[in-house]
Amino acid sequence: MKPDVRICADINELSVRAAEATVRIVTEAARGARRCSLVLSGGSTPRTLYRLLASQFDKKIPWAELHIFWGDERYVPLVDPTSNYRMAKEALLDHVPCPPANIHPMPTHVPSPDAAARHYEATLRGFFAGTRPCFDLVLLGVGTDGHTASLFPGSPVLAETTRWVRAASAPTDPPTRVTLTWPALIAASNIHVLVAGSNKADALRHVLDESPDPRVYPAARIRSAEGSVIWWADRDAAGGFLL
Ligand code: 6PG
Repeated sequence: MKPDVRICADINELSVRAAEATVRIVTEAARGARRCSLVLSGGSTPRTLYRLLASQFDKKIPWAELHIFWGDERYVPLVDPTSNYRMAKEALLDHVPCPPANIHPMPTHVPSPDAAARHYEATLRGFFAGTRPCFDLVLLGVGTDGHTASLFPGSPVLAETTRWVRAASAPTDPPTRVTLTWPALIAASNIHVLVAGSNKADALRHVLDESPDPRVYPAARIRSAEGSVIWWADRDAAGGFLL
């Protein structure tokens, strides 16, 4: 199926349109189920979106019903400058009335990355109470090598079929990660992928290609997700795809 690519002028337009979509999805989900689940991406691209959710859109989000999770985390203390939790805390969570009990960071304080993964999986299985991990919205990014979350090219974690969370190795610092796996990601009702910058054009072109190899470009696997997938790309990132 042809991917749903929404091309935006720049990171600002991309972030506003992705924020509008986030508001629509979480408000609809909360209206029905009285709670909703949002998975945050790490990296730098989503920072503008997070800041918008904390400012321009903060009154439109049902914070009391919203549960926040992470798609991946660096295995560092949550106060570490490279922590995905810390980035989201500074850009979003410190500025909105989301109940602390609704914020579920990956527990990087536990003694090993595998223990952290198992601990987080228990959190997710408790939240979804025996059903599949059907997050209302998962936000993801794409690396210049085509990775997403901490699912990197050639990683053995790409082949995981039962565990929802695994420890993983990254080719860049910090090298040790904890990541949701495809079984945890693929069942989401909505996945929105945020891609900006000319340095992502080559990876995005391969990811959105006719028949990409998800072992080489893991983000391509997002296209087989069960729910709705939208690729939010700025012109610089979409350059290769448009050609
Ligand atoms: C991480 C992210 C990772 C990120 C991509 C894109 O922990 O770094 O989860 O998957 O989304 O690497 O990162 P940028 O947005 O910084 O380009």
